[in-house]
Amino acid sequence: MGEADVIVHDRLVGEGVLDLARRDAGRIFVGKARANHCMPQEEINALIVRLAREGKRVVRLKGGDPFVFGRGGEEVEACRAAGVPCEVVPGVTAALACAAATGIPLTHRDHARTVTFATGHTRDGRLDLDFAALARPGQTLAVYMGVTTLAALRDGLVAAGLPAGTPAALVERGGTDAQRVLRGTLDDVVARAPAWHAGGPALLLAGGVAAETEEVRLAA
Ligand SMILES: C[S@@+](CC[C@H](N)C(=O)[O-])C[C@H]1O[C@@H](n2cnc3c(N)ncnc32)[C@H](O)[C@@H]1O
Repeated sequence: MGEADVIVHDRLVGEGVLDLARRDAGRIFVGKARANHCMPQEEINALIVRLAREGKRVVRLKGGDPFVFGRGGEEVEACRAAGVPCEVVPGVTAALACAAATGIPLTHRDHARTVTFATGHTRDGRLDLDFAALARPGQTLAVYMGVTTLAALRDGLVAAGLPAGTPAALVERGGTDAQRVLRGTLDDVVARAPAWHAGGPALLLAGGVAAETEEVRLAA
């Protein structure tokens, strides 16, 4: 960050991180609010390549990990195709941050030997997910970008055999001072989410591990 001439960044990047940039570094905001992408992905790719070709050292700064639902792969491909050398720096993806910050272990010998990261983002208006695989027992589901599609997600999971009573937690702004957590059964969380959600980025964790916290035990 300290060496960059220009930072190309998203919405989910904290101010504190941007403060690591040089004072004279350029900052270009390229958006990424749900359904309100400031700049189409192709334009972002072209922008990064153009800046690099101008001789600038570019940091493409994203929230979480660039290779987890971050389109980092597409940007790396664009750089490689243009002969622009690049390096990928890993980040802490939201599922890991939300799990740690809420005390919900993603794996647990009694509950989950598999963890699945899925997107709740729709394609052509429908959830394009393998519900049979997601409903298999013994796993933890972490659903990104699913806050507006929770009901369809629940319906698909339950139809595929996941009990509606599966423990779940919806974590909003996980890992920040503004973190909020809605806990309960999958059915419960999905029913209460629309009134509860305050508009921040949110992640659903579902599976036996979501009951592995003191609050849920007290509420049960
Ligand atoms: C486009 S994806 C980017 C994911 C990012 N690359 C990562 O690794 O976390 C955005 C989604 O990540 C999740 N997310 C990002 N930050 C979050 C946070 N602080 N708390 C909860 N969920 C978050 C939400 O599901 C949000 O809709």
